[in-house]
Amino acid sequence: MASLRHERKWGGHFLALHAGIFLAASLMLMVLWASTTPPVQAATPPLSAADQQCMACHGTTGLEKKLKNGETLALHIPGRAFAASVHNVIGCAGCHSDMTLANHPPLKKKITSVRENSIALVETCRGCHEDKLKLYEGSIHASLLREGNPIAPVCSDCHNPHAVAAKTARAPVAEVPCRKCHGSIFDAYIGSVHGKSRSGSSESAAPICADCHRAHDVLAAGSGDRLKNACLGCHGNVLEAHQSWLPNTERHLEAISCPACHSPSAQRRVDLRLYNNATGQRMSEKQGVPQFELRANSADAVGSGLDALALQSLLREFSRDNEASARTTVRGRLEVRNGEDAHRLAPKSAALKDCAACHREGAAPFQSVTVSIVGPDGRPVRHDAQKEVLNSVISVESVGGFYAIGGTRIKILDVLFVLALLAGIGVPIGHLSLNWLFRRYARNAATQAAAIAQAEATEQPGAGATGTTKNDQP
Ligand code: HEC
Ligand code: HEC
Ligand code: HEC
Ligand code: HEC
Ligand code: HEC
Ligand code: HEC
Ligand code: HEC
Ligand code: HEC
Ligand code: HEC
Repeated sequence: MASLRHERKWGGHFLALHAGIFLAASLMLMVLWASTTPPVQAATPPLSAADQQCMACHGTTGLEKKLKNGETLALHIPGRAFAASVHNVIGCAGCHSDMTLANHPPLKKKITSVRENSIALVETCRGCHEDKLKLYEGSIHASLLREGNPIAPVCSDCHNPHAVAAKTARAPVAEVPCRKCHGSIFDAYIGSVHGKSRSGSSESAAPICADCHRAHDVLAAGSGDRLKNACLGCHGNVLEAHQSWLPNTERHLEAISCPACHSPSAQRRVDLRLYNNATGQRMSEKQGVPQFELRANSADAVGSGLDALALQSLLREFSRDNEASARTTVRGRLEVRNGEDAHRLAPKSAALKDCAACHREGAAPFQSVTVSIVGPDGRPVRHDAQKEVLNSVISVESVGGFYAIGGTRIKILDVLFVLALLAGIGVPIGHLSLNWLFRRYARNAATQAAAIAQAEATEQPGAGATGTTKNDQP
């Protein structure tokens, strides 16, 4: 950028010069280049004769064009990088079939902005990479683009079309294209177990952005199980690794996101997610009609966060939209509060193992609560809730297991926890028996909760028993 700006002054005059001068000059350059290319680079296939003609002008550094909106479109193409790229075989015409020597330069395309040009040229990739286009079109990035987001990436934001290197050459971590726009997340990632491993060794099997999020069909991070499944894909022993010390392992792994424990310094919160109980799917905002924000705002007129009553009436309103069987319920998830923290994964020795960090009156993760549904582009739409909703009896009836944990059951667990601690001090009982104690009491507590729930449900015909279902896997 800097060098282009530097050369702008004479670039303008340059365009006015006769094309023949370009041709002569660059033919000389070509000869010079060929004769000085060291033998190691002899493998780089030469440019075709046709491409050399294009490069006669476009190989000139500083060649650029002023757009009406004041932007500058760089017209210089680095010839060597192009020659070494995978696209040398298709030549300039492979993508710029509309620009030929016969019609160009006299043909001047109307280019309104640099960005518009990039977006328009996405279509040129379709002919040969239809599969990637299809994946891309289903991504969060593409929906942002359709919404008019000015920096949502298109193909050429992640791939320099004139210098695409072969897959076999593993690019340095620092050059990952995602960094351009997600710089703070990159910085968090680079300090993580994965980032350190990946930047420390070219042999590392640790993941980089696209290994967890995928490259083309990137989805909103908070939606679905994809990211968790990505972890499980490489860490196949996760269940066993946690079972040895964490009781009710599956419940914990279901209700707590991996980074919530593996990013030790993270701030945590409880997100209460609205679910359609009949389908087991999260409630999502329909395009164009932002119900959630409207309803949440009117329920929370003071703006101090939803209280239990407001939450309950919000649930009722969403339930009314559905058929009788499809009630809206809430499932809690313990997660980190910001995107950077999700990437500060530390070695296992630093992971959160202390039961009391969560199972204690006033435990930090339960002090911040949000209520959310899935927005039109897959990203969550949130509204703050008062932390007291977790302890309110009013809405216990309408929610799943996790929620009740914050209410009645978390108290039972706290008592159990203290008992177990005392037992631990008095009699040196091992981990297993401690876990056993928890399992046994938790089972009892769950049975009790289910019985109460059942009773409440039968008292309220029409409301359906579904609201008291545990947060089973969808
Ligand atoms: C004689 C010099 C010359 C040659 C040869 C040449 N170009 Fe250009 N090219 C230009 C100039 C000058 C512009 C800027 C035109 C303008 O101001 O609109 C340009 C613009 C472009 C643009 C941007 C779109 C636009 O209209 O501004 C593309 C893409 C392009 N050239 C591709 C090619 C390809 C592909 C070839 C080979 C088939 C080629 N050019 C050959 C001089 C040349
Ligand atoms: C793989 C497809 C592909 C090939 C092959 C290709 N281009 Fe491009 N070209 C593009 C895309 C995409 C853009 C828009 C880049 C952007 O978004 O900034 C572009 C932009 C340009 C531009 C200027 C306008 C701009 O956006 O910077 C010129 C000039 C140009 N190409 C010339 C060439 C020449 C000359 C060759 C052959 C040496 C060539 N291209 C080969 C895809 C290609
Ligand atoms: C005329 C056909 C054609 C067009 C158009 C085309 N490509 Fe390619 N592309 C190829 C070929 C051939 C390869 C190399 C063979 C392969 O690995 O598929 C390739 C490979 C690639 C690779 C992978 C390199 C690697 O090995 O990992 C990327 C990335 C890529 N192209 C991006 C683009 C982008 C972005 C566009 C649009 C601006 C585009 N291509 C347009 C033919 C094309
Ligand atoms: C957000 C960044 C991003 C965007 C946008 C993007 N890509 Fe990619 N692409 C990547 C990354 C990262 C890789 C390498 C990782 C991988 O192999 O999955 C890749 C790999 C590829 C490959 C080689 C993959 C293979 O396995 O052969 C092709 C071809 C490709 N991209 C084409 C495209 C085309 C065409 C577009 C536009 C529709 C596009 N990409 C948009 C980031 C992106
Ligand atoms: C040219 C800019 C750009 C590039 C490059 C880019 N992104 Fe994005 N991305 C965005 C924007 C803008 C958003 C929407 C705002 C936000 O959430 O940060 C977004 C959103 C996302 C989201 C959803 C965030 C959420 O809130 O759920 C993920 C995940 C994501 N990008 C991953 C990637 C990955 C992985 C790459 C590289 C393969 C990448 N991005 C490359 C601009 C970019
Ligand atoms: C080890 C897997 C993994 C890797 C590697 C990874 N991410 Fe993530 N990413 C996650 C997880 C997990 C979340 C949080 C999902 C949630 O809400 O629970 C996330 C969230 C995000 C978000 C949304 C942040 C927000 O504000 O909500 C973006 C954007 C993102 N990642 C981009 C990137 C980029 C860019 C890279 C590479 C520098 C990257 N990720 C590397 C797993 C990964
Ligand atoms: C309740 C907190 C907690 C949650 C939730 C959690 N972990 Fe762990 N994890 C730990 C602790 C603590 C250790 C270290 C155990 C030890 O001391 O061996 C660990 C160990 C690991 C290890 C190392 C295993 C080994 O072989 O030694 C991996 C990998 C791992 N966790 C991945 C995950 C993934 C993936 C998830 C999400 C599906 C997850 N963890 C969820 C706390 C947690
Ligand atoms: C592409 C495979 C891959 C994916 C996907 C992946 N990891 Fe890893 N992970 C690794 C590798 C390889 C290491 C070992 C890095 C090293 O130290 O060299 C590792 C290390 C770890 C460690 C440290 C273990 C220890 O012994 O200290 C934790 C914790 C961890 N990963 C958690 C996660 C979580 C959570 C996710 C999902 C958000 C995830 N990983 C996704 C490959 C992966
Ligand atoms: C990061 C916070 C966190 C940590 C650390 C944690 N738990 Fe939990 N625990 C939870 C949450 C949240 C639930 C509620 C899960 C649900 O109901 O879906 C839960 C549920 C439980 C249950 C009840 C399961 C049931 O039937 O609902 C027991 C027993 C339990 N935890 C014991 C422990 C023990 C023992 C430890 C330490 C080895 C521990 N927990 C560490 C957050 C945590």
